Amino acid sequence: MGEAATSGWPGRDAGSKLAGMNNRIDAWQLQGHTALITGASKGIGYAVARELAGLGANLLLVARDDDHLEQVRVELADDFDHIEVLAFAADLSMQEDRLAVFDWIADLGAPLSLLVNNAGGNTPAAVLEYSERDYRAIFELNLFSAFEMCRLAHPQLVQHANAAIVNVGSVSGITHVRTGAAYGMSKAALHQLTRNLAAEWATDGIRVNAVAPWYIRTQRSEPALADDEYLDEVLDHTPLRRIGEPEEVAAAIAFLCLPAASYITGQVLAVDGGFLNYGF
Ligand SMILES: NC(=O)c1ccc[n+]([C@@H]2O[C@H](COP(=O)([O-])OP(=O)(O)OC[C@H]3O[C@@H](n4cnc5c(N)ncnc54)[C@H](OP(=O)(O)O)[C@@H]3O)[C@@H](O)[C@H]2O)c1
Repeated sequence: MGEAATSGWPGRDAGSKLAGMNNRIDAWQLQGHTALITGASKGIGYAVARELAGLGANLLLVARDDDHLEQVRVELADDFDHIEVLAFAADLSMQEDRLAVFDWIADLGAPLSLLVNNAGGNTPAAVLEYSERDYRAIFELNLFSAFEMCRLAHPQLVQHANAAIVNVGSVSGITHVRTGAAYGMSKAALHQLTRNLAAEWATDGIRVNAVAPWYIRTQRSEPALADDEYLDEVLDHTPLRRIGEPEEVAAAIAFLCLPAASYITGQVLAVDGGFLNYGF
């Protein structure tokens, strides 16, 4: 029998030890934070909403489909009754909608401290086959939207002691992964926006990081992964030999939001099952 069984548990000095430990626990939770999550109604964005809610943050959710967004809002509000969960339908490809999101936040008087730029999309094509409209639309949503959301959020974030932005990039912004050049270019630029803002806004107390996922199982990736031959090829290039789950990206994003990550800024964290470092 170990000592705990005879001397009792948690032990004589538990009071003072736990008090010390609780200070560390504060670094691993998000109570008092309000997070704006774009593309929060499905996939990675939805998993981020659940993860941040579980850590105590209030949620401001944005996506286009009003009905689905409201369903998600109600579900999250029911599951996490100790936080505020509010939602606003907007198409973040459009500047007037981005402005409307921040008018809404101003009207709420919500003290925004976290921004997760997750909304993104792709219309893959070979370089010679893109229509100008399609490749510009990819940039508008994946890059210019995040750029503008960061700028619009800055006046709010700067007022909070532990503010953070996390951009959802992609391994396609680091290496060729058959997504089409426009998507890869937009994500590479998003990674660089992350590094530039981290440097520019460090003295404003705003940390800026990104995650770069490889294949994650969501509605968006499902059609490609439904092809068994293609799936095998993907798994052959993935040391962990499986597709990632949205919750695994959400955990990385949550970490980058936490006070525990207070000395981390300007990083692009691959969430890729080892894909990027898998040589021959
Ligand atoms: N899944 C992967 O394998 C993977 C890998 C690397 C990177 N990523 C990146 O991860 C992010 C999320 O991807 P996902 O797979 O989770 O996508 P998803 O399952 O398709 O979900 C996308 C979310 O964004 C919203 N959305 C789409 N367009 C929008 C717009 N114009 N304005 C506002 N909201 C919009 C969608 O809701 P509505 O349709 O209602 O607007 C939905 O909530 C993207 O930036 C993507 O590039 C994904």
